[in-house]
Amino acid sequence: MSSQDIPEENLPAEQGTAHGAVKVADEAHPFADPGLPPHEHRIQDIDERAAKRSERVVAFLFTLSMLATAGFIASFVSIPHDRSIYVFPIGHVNAMNFALGLTLGVALFTIGAGAVHWARTLMSDEEVADERHPIEADPETRAKVHADFKQGAKESVIGRRKLIRNTMLGALTLVPLSGVVLLRDLGPLPGTKLRHTLWSKGKLLVNMNTNEPLRPSDVAVGSLTFAKPEGLEEHDEEFQNEIAKAALMIVRIQPENIKDKRELEWSHEGIVAYSKICTHVGCPISLYEQQTHHVLCPCHQSTFDLSDGARVIFGPAGHALPQLRIGVNDEGYLEALSDFEEPVGPAFWERG
Ligand code: FES
Repeated sequence: MSSQDIPEENLPAEQGTAHGAVKVADEAHPFADPGLPPHEHRIQDIDERAAKRSERVVAFLFTLSMLATAGFIASFVSIPHDRSIYVFPIGHVNAMNFALGLTLGVALFTIGAGAVHWARTLMSDEEVADERHPIEADPETRAKVHADFKQGAKESVIGRRKLIRNTMLGALTLVPLSGVVLLRDLGPLPGTKLRHTLWSKGKLLVNMNTNEPLRPSDVAVGSLTFAKPEGLEEHDEEFQNEIAKAALMIVRIQPENIKDKRELEWSHEGIVAYSKICTHVGCPISLYEQQTHHVLCPCHQSTFDLSDGARVIFGPAGHALPQLRIGVNDEGYLEALSDFEEPVGPAFWERG
């Protein structure tokens, strides 16, 4: 609302300033007339050719943003991850990172620059003085805001300048794609990898400490032995990736003390093999209490009963430890009779 729209009786008393006579605020009249200088029209307000030039500049900036976004996507897809280039004065930099930063920067900057140029040259720049009101908006105010909004849309010339509107919509639609293509860096989905380990029928159980294949006689009652599949050496890259899933705990329990029937069938003379990886969030389990046959995870104290299918008897773990079915081969070594039948480790990939 301009000062001309405020009823005369609501305006405060006049005072002289550098800009001439203006109204000043007092308690009875809280709205001061700021005494703005007379409005000066811009060249674009009076010359349609200048307005056209501004329109083309804005459209050019939005188009540049679209091209930069296309360049961003093209850089991501086509530049090898390990290529480097020399950039003065920085030196050698990763080519893909440089191209992504440059194109995304240009895409965002030109949208901002286009919007600023549009506002400064083509949108209405009439100065207005507005009253301050309490925060609650009454229906009359809302209607006024609605009307102001429509007026603003009209003054922004977005309806008339279709070239600006279309290129702006194109730029704003394309720029979020930059974020979408970055999702590719999250890597491939694991697929069925989480459901399989290196164990398979006939793989020997190898003592992790001695690197020797285990015989039943190597596993004493009350001891806890850690085992890995044969053929997995510590210097192998595969070892780092797979040992976490394949690591086993081997204990020997008197067969008459094994309560779970399936556990007994999958054991050999009371020797049972369980995944060493806690089903809570995957810590390696290492504490064994031989009298109770309980194993304890040191991270959050989940406790599993190895004489009863390794069910959880305490703590936050949601599932029993997976058991590996084992037997003895013709040469008398302990061997796996299959892979685990359920995923090892944390239980958040649901067991089917
Ligand atoms: S990781 Fe084992 S209890 Fe949390």
